[in-house]
Amino acid sequence: QSREFRELVLKEFHRVLMGDSKVFTSGLDHQNTYDVKYERDSPMRNTRKDILCALRNVELRTVETNDEPFSRLGFRIPPSPLQGNRMYNTCAVVMSAGALLGSRFGKFIDSHEMVLRFNNAPTENYTDDVGSKTTFRILNSQVVSKPEYKFLEDPLYEDVSILIWDPANYSSTLEDWYEHPDFPLFSVYKRLLEKRPRADVHLLNPRVLWQLWNVLQQLSPYRLRRNPPSSGFLGIWFALHRCKRVRVFEYVPSVRATKRCHYYLQGDDPGCTLGAWHPLAQEKALADRIRDNTDVDVFQRGFIDIPGVRKMSC
Ligand code: C5P
Repeated sequence: QSREFRELVLKEFHRVLMGDSKVFTSGLDHQNTYDVKYERDSPMRNTRKDILCALRNVELRTVETNDEPFSRLGFRIPPSPLQGNRMYNTCAVVMSAGALLGSRFGKFIDSHEMVLRFNNAPTENYTDDVGSKTTFRILNSQVVSKPEYKFLEDPLYEDVSILIWDPANYSSTLEDWYEHPDFPLFSVYKRLLEKRPRADVHLLNPRVLWQLWNVLQQLSPYRLRRNPPSSGFLGIWFALHRCKRVRVFEYVPSVRATKRCHYYLQGDDPGCTLGAWHPLAQEKALADRIRDNTDVDVFQRGFIDIPGVRKMSC
């Protein structure tokens, strides 16, 4: 099953790079839930440096203390930026892919200065494969707002820095977004800030999602699905800004990849690895373009290495 799946992955990457990806895009192309406008920039050159510079040009923006409507509605947005803008030497971005099972990456992952995880991905019971250290989490608004995730109570979300994202329409203001989030995250965020005033928890300014989508689109020879990038891609972009070296585990699928979606849940769904709702195949083809480690690392061992972008001259 693993070999068959790997062949499917490689074939899909090839299609993405050749501009002929129909498999995971057809049938949904007409949808434009977020009223996305194609900016008719000329397609970008896609050397490693061009891509890294494009990612560097998308700056981290979060909702700030004085942003309306949050200010007048009494949100106690933390005055200091996420992690105080701290820089790290080495960062591990741990995807939630089923392919992490059996990887025995735990100690290796924990040896990084910062460890970034996603949504409700646990470490307990999986430490041999995914490690135990968590510095940072990126959460989608479902995890924040749906009661089953227990965002306000679960220790998984305590004592870590958190960036939360939810899509707004392409041209929306923060006021529009506040009125029409995808999931009802704002009241929960407000309660969190009241309960834990020192929490380092911020909302991503949704403009950033579409800036990153534009980078993906400009590098793609065909039109992308008009949905925001995945949490995983946000994590890589964030880490590239904050770390000298970034190591990403099981994003570009290794020999361990199967149809299993998450390491911590039973259940097959090839869309998790190759993309169904997010432009994931394009994200991964891009990640594969900017890595600078060997094929053995990537396909046999299961990680990619990327240099941080902060010090780059573009
Ligand atoms: O499913 P979830 O969004 O919580 O997973 C976190 C991230 O890990 C995804 O946004 C995606 O980028 C990545 N992932 C992956 N392959 C999988 C599952 C998740 O690349 N099979």
